[in-house]
Amino acid sequence: MSTPSLLILPGDGIGPEVMAEVRKVIDWFGTARGMQFDVSEGLVGGAAYDAHGAPLSDETMERAQQADAVLLGAVGGPKYDQLDFSVKPERGLLRLRKEMDLFANLRPAQCFDALADFSSLKRDVVSGLDIMIVRELTSGVYFGEPRGIHTEGNERVGINTQRYTEGEIARVARSAFELARKRGNKVCSMEKANVMESGILWRDVVTEVHAAEYPDVELSHMYADAGAMQLCRWPKQFDVIVTDNLFGDLLSDAAAMLTGSLGMLPSASLGAPMANGRPKALYEPVHGSAPDIADQGKANPIACILSFAMAMRYSFDAGDEATRLEKAVETVLADGLRTADLLGEEGRTPVSTSQMGDAIVAALDASA
Ligand code: NAD
Ligand code: IPM
Ligand code: MN
Repeated sequence: MSTPSLLILPGDGIGPEVMAEVRKVIDWFGTARGMQFDVSEGLVGGAAYDAHGAPLSDETMERAQQADAVLLGAVGGPKYDQLDFSVKPERGLLRLRKEMDLFANLRPAQCFDALADFSSLKRDVVSGLDIMIVRELTSGVYFGEPRGIHTEGNERVGINTQRYTEGEIARVARSAFELARKRGNKVCSMEKANVMESGILWRDVVTEVHAAEYPDVELSHMYADAGAMQLCRWPKQFDVIVTDNLFGDLLSDAAAMLTGSLGMLPSASLGAPMANGRPKALYEPVHGSAPDIADQGKANPIACILSFAMAMRYSFDAGDEATRLEKAVETVLADGLRTADLLGEEGRTPVSTSQMGDAIVAALDASA
């Protein structure tokens, strides 16, 4: 195989800070494991807007389409809050997801044992937790038409439309069932079929795909509001959760806190297989640009580093190396290293973003 290409888009706020730590990890895999990547960088979000007046240039979009995988930091920040909606940093990320047709967003929430006491929930509730949220990412209320802000009579009206086709629901359902077969073999589908027609269709199509293609997988359905409650009450009842774009956004942030911090959660956004059999893919932490802690060396780089582990697993056929990296993160946490977001009331001294990255590389060294 020729050297796989990896396009890195650090973005804004803490994006470049956490990405600098991922670069150390990528270099380590090159030197110590002989895994070469053809790495290039580009601009997205506010950084791209500052450079060329758009949150993603056509040229960067094309490079993303050609890359074997894209790794993104985070976009957005208060500096860009007043920009016109069409050029806001977040539009750059949404364009990548839509034009690459990355319909299945995998958001695993795993609780590392060393952090089980740090979660806002009791140790019992979170220890050993390993769930996978599969969020539909290219449709639903994020993209449905009509949309916009209009004036009706003497007042403004804001409109967004939740819209799903059967095909869109069926393909993300298949992703969830396929993943479940490799894990705990259970899928829980979440919608609000009690109040939304799109929810009724969602439930019907998931049920049909299950009956026709995945009868061996255990399927259950839950209203998304009840699902949010169950995620906090007893999250270990879940294996794979499949849900729409907006519910998935909310539920995955909630799931992040089960693991201790938003700074811990990676994600993979996958599309249909390319000619080489691998999916189009973008990997990114679930967190945002965290303007409140940007440029202070406080950001936790683990979510972004674990996103690179997901890239090794899903794009580079290197599941063993992904596991090696995940174990290195586990080791460092077990050794007691904590960035500020993981400290709580424990009274330890936090390590900086780069100290955390260095420690993970040192743990990798020890594993080789
Ligand atoms: P956020 O995820 O940026 O931050 C929420 C809270 O979590 C903050 O207190 C932050 O300090 C903390 N946090 C997040 N990541 C952390 C990390 N790695 N280490 C330590 N602490 C971390 O969400 P927000 O404040 O609602 O949004 C800020 C900006 O980011 C907005 O412009 C938003 O649109 C954008 N955003 C981007 C993405 C993305 O690029 N994928 C995701 C979410 C939000
Ligand atoms: C996420 C973010 C994005 C979303 C924003 C930044 C467009 O919150 O990736 O979870 O809403 O999907
Ligand atoms: Mn979100």
